[in-house]
Amino acid sequence: MKPVRLDRLLGGMGYGSRQEIAKLAKVGGITLDGRDLTDASQRIAPTPDLPDRMTVDGRPVDPPPGLVILLNKPLGMTCSHKEDGALVYDVLPSRWRRRDPAISAVGRLDKQTSGLLLLTDDGDLLHRIISPRRHVAKVYRATLARPLEGHEGALFASGDLILEGEDKPLAPAALEVISPTEARLTVHEGRYHQVRRMFAAAGNHVEALHRERVGALTIPVDLAPGDWRLLGPAEVDLVFREPDTG
Ligand code: URA
Repeated sequence: MKPVRLDRLLGGMGYGSRQEIAKLAKVGGITLDGRDLTDASQRIAPTPDLPDRMTVDGRPVDPPPGLVILLNKPLGMTCSHKEDGALVYDVLPSRWRRRDPAISAVGRLDKQTSGLLLLTDDGDLLHRIISPRRHVAKVYRATLARPLEGHEGALFASGDLILEGEDKPLAPAALEVISPTEARLTVHEGRYHQVRRMFAAAGNHVEALHRERVGALTIPVDLAPGDWRLLGPAEVDLVFREPDTG
């Protein structure tokens, strides 16, 4: 991890302009390992343990760049930086909105879809997760308007299903029937409204949609809708493993 100037590091984490950070450092508002850091041009390695070592205004510093967040997305929030209404970014501390690199959702869940949503400021990781070449599994639980008819599993697994308005068939997807009107669907792509459109192609309608997993990563049991947590490297690795839905 390359050392960066303190004013640049904290500026990119939303703590203010370089001048403001220099001023704060001068008056003893920033400490590292218990000692005042008075020179804002000093270079600091932005290691993940920084919140345990550095304080700003007496509080542990925010995590440095390279953060990955798991949000249990509630219904009604949009995965957008600009739209009106409630946004998924609203659940994070307001200072995090000013971070550069910015925090973005890894793919999107519809406003009316709940469940596991990842957010990160790591552009490489984001692209690795959403890249179709990586085949990261996404597991959804769908509640349907009408009972399943029995043909859906074969249709989704065929690799021949072409969604309305598209010309490239979907990769095979696995359907697990939970009840006549509930199913778990595992897809390895992230096309626009994919799950809703797949069930529409099968003559049904999705009434409720919840993402349970991304790869082998699940929502922690104690994480209520609207709550989030930072993930460590071992949890991020789970994203690239096959889910065990059995
Ligand atoms: N498929 C959908 O239709 N909606 C989502 O939010 C995710 C997958």
